[in-house]
Amino acid sequence: MATFQTLPGFREFYPEDFARRNHVFRLWRQTANAFGFAEYDAPVLEPLDLYKAKSGDEIEAQLFSFTDKGGREVALRPEMTPTVCRLVGAKASALKRPIKWFSIAEFYRYERMQKGRGRCFSQFNADIFGEPGPEAEIELIALLVQCLCAFGLTEQDFYVRLSDRNLWFFYLEALGLDEPRIRAMLGAVDRHEKYGDEAFKVYGEQFGALDGGLKEKVLAFLRVKSLAELEQALAGIQPAGEEGSVGPKLVARLAEWKKLLGGLEAMGLARFVEVDLGVVRGLAYYTGFVFEAFDRKGELRALAGGGRYDDLVAKLGGPALPAVGFAIGDMTFALLLEQRGLMPKFVQVPDVYCVIGGEAERLAAFADIHTLRAAGFRVEYPMKELAFGKQFKAAAESGAKLALIYGGDELAKGVVKIRDLGQRTELEVGRAQVAATVREFFSGA
Ligand code: HAM
Repeated sequence: MATFQTLPGFREFYPEDFARRNHVFRLWRQTANAFGFAEYDAPVLEPLDLYKAKSGDEIEAQLFSFTDKGGREVALRPEMTPTVCRLVGAKASALKRPIKWFSIAEFYRYERMQKGRGRCFSQFNADIFGEPGPEAEIELIALLVQCLCAFGLTEQDFYVRLSDRNLWFFYLEALGLDEPRIRAMLGAVDRHEKYGDEAFKVYGEQFGALDGGLKEKVLAFLRVKSLAELEQALAGIQPAGEEGSVGPKLVARLAEWKKLLGGLEAMGLARFVEVDLGVVRGLAYYTGFVFEAFDRKGELRALAGGGRYDDLVAKLGGPALPAVGFAIGDMTFALLLEQRGLMPKFVQVPDVYCVIGGEAERLAAFADIHTLRAAGFRVEYPMKELAFGKQFKAAAESGAKLALIYGGDELAKGVVKIRDLGQRTELEVGRAQVAATVREFFSGA
């Protein structure tokens, strides 16, 4: 008979995998709470239009989409950003500022499968709405860094590459490019790391070959790796104040860069952050600072990505509302934790294992079992009658700290035997004292 398998790229979580996932989600959630972010969720299935021409060509091509029974064009969510914009946009005037929200949810993209990339994956998303200045970026990059450090990762394991689509816009504008050319060029910059000069092919096909000077200037900017280099690269562009020049915009932008980097430095996070104009992000909606987190060894695909998207809330029918956010993916992140030995092994160990004589003893044991469980202890017992020897073996193998022994002799005397499985000591307590004795044992443990 044919066996049914999961669809390619989809995941199943056996209990141990699920425990790992819970561990990751729990620390992300704790960290977001410490930063004052509020949690939300939204539907998995959304109108297809929410993503069309908003997320960008790449994501659009990867959508799991279909027509539902009511004839609606729908898609499984490939990301959270358009959805959270709709949520915030619909109630923007009623929401207390600053609006700092996070979610942990599953997403679907029909991608080519590779290490750390699947067709169904989870993301931790964090976004701030209503803050136009780099204060929001400081808060978010600090949160991103802490979401990784909470697991024991350090600056030797990962770093955040920080770039700026605004600056690219101003720079390319100063080089004489109009908006369609700028957008095409940013696409080339995005692909350059992977494809080298091949990345300029699409631009060339659309707008004619790049004259030598332009390509050199783009490549020079793309290689900027520090604030000093950035200032140097911009110094030669256009003098501030010249009629119609981008000079003043650049000066103002550099001040924002300094504020952002200064804030991160004051938080003690400068060691995690690198200026790197080679990052521009593939998604279509980003408008300002953009950033991505990578493992230091450069072996894995991106751990996280985000940036500012000041126009998206309005584009989706809401008010004009500046926004910035990021998402960490769970797949590359779990790989990194495993590589560094930072993913704990999860074994489920009971506190108490009950060894039970026969049916009459079982009923007596049930009362204590339920009382102890209600008090929060993890209690296990054999589901069916077993020889004592087998039960003691099971108790030892379970890893439980205590065994409660409900034998005929004990019950006849009105007592239960409590064995400390670690110390190999034993004592008898009256039936009524069982719960109190167990509680006392664990309070001292
Ligand atoms: P993104 O760069 O498309 O950004 O995804 C963020 C992270 O999700 C990636 O760095 C990666 O770890 C993970 N990820 C993406 N696709 C896959 C996949 N197919 N398999 C496994 N992991 C994947 C966004 O999604 C933006 N919406 C983030 C954002 C939030 N921007 C503003 N707010």
